[in-house]
Amino acid sequence: MSERPFREALIDLDAVTANVRSLVERLGGTRAMAVVKADAYGHGAVPVARAALAGGADWLGTADLGEAFELRAAGIDAPILAWLHDPGADFAPAIAADIDLGLSAEAQLHRAAEAARGAGAPATVHLKIDTGLSRNGVQPGEWADAVAAAVELERAGLLRVRGVFSHLANTSAESDAAQLAEFERALAVAADAGLTPEVRHIASTAAALTRPDARYDLVRLGIACYGIPPFGDGTTSAELRLVPVMTLRGRVAAVRRIAAGDGVSYGHTWRAERATTLALVPLGYADGVPRQASGRGEVLLNGARRPVVGRIAMDQFLVDVGDDAVEVGDEVVLFGDPATGAPSADDWGVAADTIGYEIVTRIGPRVPRGYLGGV
Ligand SMILES: Cc1ncc(COP(=O)(O)O)c(C=O)c1O
Repeated sequence: MSERPFREALIDLDAVTANVRSLVERLGGTRAMAVVKADAYGHGAVPVARAALAGGADWLGTADLGEAFELRAAGIDAPILAWLHDPGADFAPAIAADIDLGLSAEAQLHRAAEAARGAGAPATVHLKIDTGLSRNGVQPGEWADAVAAAVELERAGLLRVRGVFSHLANTSAESDAAQLAEFERALAVAADAGLTPEVRHIASTAAALTRPDARYDLVRLGIACYGIPPFGDGTTSAELRLVPVMTLRGRVAAVRRIAAGDGVSYGHTWRAERATTLALVPLGYADGVPRQASGRGEVLLNGARRPVVGRIAMDQFLVDVGDDAVEVGDEVVLFGDPATGAPSADDWGVAADTIGYEIVTRIGPRVPRGYLGGV
């Protein structure tokens, strides 16, 4: 007897490998970084990183150093870049673990140099220019000074500037072009000052797929590795020749017949118009099923898409199966590969006024990850 109702996020690692392989083939020689931050968008950082490397990714990207250390601790020795740091972060362990530091301010360069002095080895850094996203990165007015500092520290043997990078806002073709022009200016300043970065990078999935002029030496691919389109405009995975990696599923925990007029779930936001059968699904917002999708999401159950009715609660929600047969224990797929008839993560994104990225990344810790394939 299991202690918990069956819930699972099934991760197809061979799909990660196939997605990365297919993307690499389309990049015309540009190298690929698989972005595995946030536990590989909820898919499991270590197994996904291995699967992405098997598909031809040369680099791994994480937001923070903790995520990078997790990969190193698992024995992964591919180049790793981490780009979002605590103001008090100690860079010395990153230098010792051969993790590249994405740095966004001159002060961080000096702190990395300080750590390098202590470690007795240079820090490998990628200097970030803010080309218009306005998150982090050195602002254009401060770029020349930051570059000058980097050159000096590089000459002192404390830093190696391996990369110059930025990040696009993916707002429009025009705004991407303006950011790319700013990036070009920043690269020219860096080159004039004597920096010779091995990798220049600005594109994540959207630009990697649509703008060859944004590819430079390396693209940072996150969402595409997971088989989810980046655009949020109805483009499907299949149209992008990608396979969704995560299937979120459970088993029907209870079945009941209700009468016309009966109210369903908290607040009775939905009432049956006629007698119908409800199936109870044992996943809720504690598991990352967005409450916002109450009355709007759909699941695949016994060969058909069925609507979520009433409010999604913390641990469970109901679907309306009409007069069709359903039994306790039947499998329910919340999302997966639409080729199987299941909704996509993006469908849930639409139902919850968000994006597929958020749907997969927020699947909670109560949902075990199961793995298929892999290396
Ligand atoms: C700096 C940076 N690069 C790359 C990515 C990957 O983006 P995507 O998942 O759209 O490919 C992200 C993700 O948000 C990011 O923050």
